[in-house]
Amino acid sequence: MKYVIGIDIGTSGTKTVLFDEAGGKVASKTVEYPLYQPHEGWAEQDPGDWWRAAVEGIRAVTADADRESIAGIGLSGQMHGLVMLGGDGEVLRRSIIWCDQRTNEQCREIEELVGHGRLMEITKSPALTGFTASKILWVREHEPEIYEKCKTILLPKDYIRFMLTGERATDVSDASGMQLLDIARRTWSAEVTDALGVERGMLGTVYESPEVTGVLSASAAEVVGLRAGIPVVGGAGDNAAAAVGCGVVSGGRAFTTIGTSGVVFAHSPELSCDPEGRIHSFCAAVPGEWHVMGVIQSAGLSLRWFRDNFCAAEQAEADRRGVDVYKVMDELAAKSPVGSGKLLFLPYLMGERTPHLDPFARGAFIGLSSTHTRGDMLRAVMEGVTFALRDSLELFSAAGVTVGDMMACGGGASSRLWRQMLADVFGCPVRTAASNEGGALGAAILAAVGAGIYKNVGEACGAVIGDGTVCEPDAERSGRYGELYRVYTRLYGRLKDEFGALAAM
Ligand code: XUL
Repeated sequence: MKYVIGIDIGTSGTKTVLFDEAGGKVASKTVEYPLYQPHEGWAEQDPGDWWRAAVEGIRAVTADADRESIAGIGLSGQMHGLVMLGGDGEVLRRSIIWCDQRTNEQCREIEELVGHGRLMEITKSPALTGFTASKILWVREHEPEIYEKCKTILLPKDYIRFMLTGERATDVSDASGMQLLDIARRTWSAEVTDALGVERGMLGTVYESPEVTGVLSASAAEVVGLRAGIPVVGGAGDNAAAAVGCGVVSGGRAFTTIGTSGVVFAHSPELSCDPEGRIHSFCAAVPGEWHVMGVIQSAGLSLRWFRDNFCAAEQAEADRRGVDVYKVMDELAAKSPVGSGKLLFLPYLMGERTPHLDPFARGAFIGLSSTHTRGDMLRAVMEGVTFALRDSLELFSAAGVTVGDMMACGGGASSRLWRQMLADVFGCPVRTAASNEGGALGAAILAAVGAGIYKNVGEACGAVIGDGTVCEPDAERSGRYGELYRVYTRLYGRLKDEFGALAAM
């Protein structure tokens, strides 16, 4: 029996999982780390924390394993984060990560330098604060002494690859979120990098996700306690990896995930786009194919915000019962009626991407009355996130992408209440896979393909991924949510100017 390791560099922590070649989970370890928010709308992490978490994870999951049988390592991770390295491979500053919103000014510059039309044609997106290119320009303008020393630009999971193998490389799915890739051709765009003055030599070599990008170096092997020479494959951005991890690798298949961000993702054998770029069109982890996805900035983040500020009682009860605090929060939310007693929540705590593309949008409770309870507010947060996800689904049809099958994965999918809410709000059945290891399993599957255990991603998914549960929509609840969703979709337009006025203060 051979084994593969999947490492997922998330925002709240890094999850490392050892799987056998049939996809069975052997051991798993998650190591958390801080998120730094030095100003409102800024978000940074320390690449050193990611590396320490990966080392601790690899050591933990392989402690009792047959280490000689480990055939490959796959990486998955939060997308868009900017890691800058100097000439000796040293980290020059904390990573500015995906949810950071400081680069509105730089986005305007990108639109001017490349031209909106060409930017859309090549990168399939207007300039976005979330994407890496604007973060590079921000550092060049605000920290020129750091930019001058920068020799290499990597994404979060690719920094871990660099530490494991010494190679400066990335994969097509993650590179798609840098706004420097020609999405149709799956290579760096000379036109965009030249217009922005970003040296292509600073960017890593681009690989397809299952390709081998290098092997575990002797020095890294000693640090992580494995043998040198284990292949490390391209891997994928967290969502493209999660797609592989739940078998969304052919046309018509889709999933939604609630992690820190929230994503609705559909595989697409052809390249399909929303003309306004409100959903992303990225290269998929399946070689030569693509996917579309809508991303909301604050899905699990909204719930965590509510937990940290208002749920001390649930935390105390969870500690007493020895269960996860989210389980106790679910029980509280379940007591509130569908629609939370006509209370709506806009989950724009970190600005919003799909569909508004507005870094200045902010959260709001609408419809509060003196009869509402904390439980109603909690349920409204969950429903607001679910409505925001439906916005993405609505845009898929505009881009000509049809969804025949919807799955749920990620942290939110472990809540039965939230899965049912997704089914009721989307108005379609929502399935889970037997394993909810998402990105880590996807990365491990890609490693298994790279190591030659399976011929291709489709064959590997067919062998590894089993069916889980299904939630059917309830007609009455769906109807009620439909009414509330219509009100929800009008709120952002009514508040947009006020968000702008607050941001300008
Ligand atoms: C995708 C995105 C997030 C991050 C963090 O475009 O920004 O999903 O990858 O999970």
